[in-house]
Amino acid sequence: MRRPDAGTVRRFQCRLLTWYRRHGRDLPWRRTRDPYRVLVSEIMLQQTQVDRVLPKYRQFLDRYPTMQSLAGAPVDDVRALWYPLGYNVRPVRLHAIARETVAAYGGRLPDDAERLRRLPGIGRYTAGAILSFAYGRDAAILDTNVRRVLTRVFLGPRRARRVRGEKTLWDLAAALVPRGRGYDFNQALMDFGATWCTPRAPRCPTCPMRRLCVSYPVAPPARRHARAGRPARAGPRRVGREVR
Ligand code: ADE
Repeated sequence: MRRPDAGTVRRFQCRLLTWYRRHGRDLPWRRTRDPYRVLVSEIMLQQTQVDRVLPKYRQFLDRYPTMQSLAGAPVDDVRALWYPLGYNVRPVRLHAIARETVAAYGGRLPDDAERLRRLPGIGRYTAGAILSFAYGRDAAILDTNVRRVLTRVFLGPRRARRVRGEKTLWDLAAALVPRGRGYDFNQALMDFGATWCTPRAPRCPTCPMRRLCVSYPVAPPARRHARAGRPARAGPRRVGREVR
């Protein structure tokens, strides 16, 4: 994929940051830079919507306010507290991260991607989120929402179908982060994907990216984006106004 030119990148950055000042959500994990709190929020948000995470995030931090307190707790208690968010592997991994962080790093999460990714359950996305949200680095992030935004704005449905693997999108995400603004930019991308450039009802008519978005002129807003960002599908497709 051809990289967007410098002017397009700058416009995307400016519009997103301006949009965020007005529409960004006030979320409790944005009121802290404590790496432990950022970690807890990111693990909770991995498979659960913001609304459901909010009460559990507070409850969890009341019970386990520090990495040390979590590391010292019995794993079954951590699972029990987590339970309504889904009885799954996330609390067990979070507990293992806490134990390893205490044992290897004195309780402070590392501030480099390589060591972060050696911790249980921390992949490229979570490492990028911790680096930008806790340590203020200009690290890229790519989750479902960000993937959808970048695919729609810069690739469009046809080119998206030809993109194989994640490298193209990670490269694009990295190229877009404005220097020194990784924190706001990444939070903004998340909110933009979650509240504006949504999977089924994107708010195209009032979208600040309309003039940049390669998907925008292709079809009427109600139908246009439904499939953008999904994995490539084989088989015939219609051409013309409706691209899906
Ligand atoms: N999903 C994952 N991380 C998030 C964040 N920091 N804000 C909103 N949604 C998120």
